[in-house]
Amino acid sequence: MEHEVGRAHARATMTAFVAAAVLALPQPGPSGGEPAPTLPAAQHAAAARPEPVAIAPPPTTPGCGAAAGAAQGTVGGVLLDLARVMCSPLGPAAGLPPTTLEAQEPERLYALVDADHAVRPARYAPEDLVPLAGGPYEAREEVAEHLDLLLAAAAEEGRTRLVVQSGFRSYADQAGSHEDWVRRVGADRAAKVSAPAGHSEHQLGLAVDLTGPCGFACTGDTPEERWVAANAHRFGFLVRYPEGGEKVTGYAYEPWHLRYVGPRAAWGMHLRGEAYWERFAGIALESAEGLPG
Ligand code: DAL
Ligand code: ZN
Repeated sequence: MEHEVGRAHARATMTAFVAAAVLALPQPGPSGGEPAPTLPAAQHAAAARPEPVAIAPPPTTPGCGAAAGAAQGTVGGVLLDLARVMCSPLGPAAGLPPTTLEAQEPERLYALVDADHAVRPARYAPEDLVPLAGGPYEAREEVAEHLDLLLAAAAEEGRTRLVVQSGFRSYADQAGSHEDWVRRVGADRAAKVSAPAGHSEHQLGLAVDLTGPCGFACTGDTPEERWVAANAHRFGFLVRYPEGGEKVTGYAYEPWHLRYVGPRAAWGMHLRGEAYWERFAGIALESAEGLPG
């Protein structure tokens, strides 16, 4: 019941913002092993589909320089502190209304977790895990809500063959999975495709593996994966390990691994053309200062 209330609140907040934000930014065109597959997520989305609204693009304003002389301005009916919004590294995304995690848990939401940065505390597990669309996996409640919105929007555009393949993994789950990879492909290769225990974003409950119909054999070029790559930011997700990004992320391309960072940071990265969380996590955290906690 609490989950339903939370989801309804998130939908109401987003719907209100969609109504308020009238200036749309141009949308980019399509661009661009783990547990066993389960029921296609689109089937779940069809059964319990939320409103097929996306989180609207942030409102646009004249820019930081032009805004400097004006303390406030109305954009699409929303009264904004223009200097704060336009001079923020998030750009217009700073005008998006913060979600619960963005306002209340920025350190957790924006945590950089990779081979060099561990989950803290090591055995951390979120307390608000809920089932994800279409299968036995779980993630934090806000992640599940936004994934539902993403899947509903994808289904509206005919992308119905997306499959949730993984969500939250505990420290112990990740230890087992990583050891399995090492046994199968050796330590060097395993280090490129699987995080060691205590170093996976899946342990944060903020990561979801969402594949096209070919599962983990997909290489990013199905219509479903292209849709996800072009649209994930609208729902607060990043394709966290981009193609060609191994030197930055430490991991091989994973078109399926989506990291939830919330719409403000995901839109902010998109608008700046920034592909890597390694370069944006600190900016996102700094930009969260002053949000109502
Ligand atoms: N496959 C990603 C890197 C993980 O294991 O978290
Ligand atoms: Zn993953």
